[in-house]
Amino acid sequence: MTYYDQVKEAADAVKARVHEVPRIAVVLGSGLGDFARSLEGGVSMPYRELPNWPASHVVGHEGRLVVGTVRGRTIAALAGRSHAYEGHELRTVTFAVRVLGLLGVQILVLTNAAGGVNTGFAQGALMVIDDHINLMGNNPLVGPNDDRFGPRFPDMTEVYSPRLRRIADEAGRDIDRRLPHGIYVALLGPSYETPAEIRYLREIGVDAVGMSTVPEAIVARHMGIEVLGISCISNMAAGVLPQPLDHAEVMETTRQVRGQFIALLEGIIGRL
Ligand code: HPA
Repeated sequence: MTYYDQVKEAADAVKARVHEVPRIAVVLGSGLGDFARSLEGGVSMPYRELPNWPASHVVGHEGRLVVGTVRGRTIAALAGRSHAYEGHELRTVTFAVRVLGLLGVQILVLTNAAGGVNTGFAQGALMVIDDHINLMGNNPLVGPNDDRFGPRFPDMTEVYSPRLRRIADEAGRDIDRRLPHGIYVALLGPSYETPAEIRYLREIGVDAVGMSTVPEAIVARHMGIEVLGISCISNMAAGVLPQPLDHAEVMETTRQVRGQFIALLEGIIGRL
């Protein structure tokens, strides 16, 4: 079976189980998985029940796709994503976004936890991604292009929709936050960066560093989907503070910010 057919089969399986096909989708980063549970009338589809879906190894959670209602809008929420550092090829990492695209999703909100490279950021800040730098050393579109998904050489001038970034700012005001904006860089990981790497990233204009989102954003744009990206600054990047980085800290910050992050997402969705 071709990759396209695998994606199509998964999309058809999702279509067969939902009452209404979503126009909006949200990929939930670390610590946000609970948002999927809060969807009204949600149809929950564990990844293992969907054909061809790559297994994801999220600690403490079963990966799942939930289709339900938020503020009157039918959305798809993905709890659990696969990462390149697990050893997956990028087309595996972006399988879910391909399925969403074939389902008919037109707006994709990508969320993540990221390290703060910009020293002006506070831990727990929610950053609107204005643009990205791909330093993963790979691209999800490498290989033969299937024109049914999109063109061989897709434009990446405005990956993150100016319209959606404005809407995020408005939704930020509702939760009494002025959201910082910035440039997100994706590295392969899984080791965190060295202080020298972080100084280098700051020098080239990076504000936040992480290990996800960029492949998904590229694939979404390839399919003509409008993209918004929001990073939770879960920790200051290596060398900013006189202490080592710790995944537990990342999880703790995302836990503390979860309520506000969810309120922000609801405010954004309510405006779409
Ligand atoms: N570096 C890379 N990825 C991350 C970080 C970081 O500091 N924090 C959360 N994800």
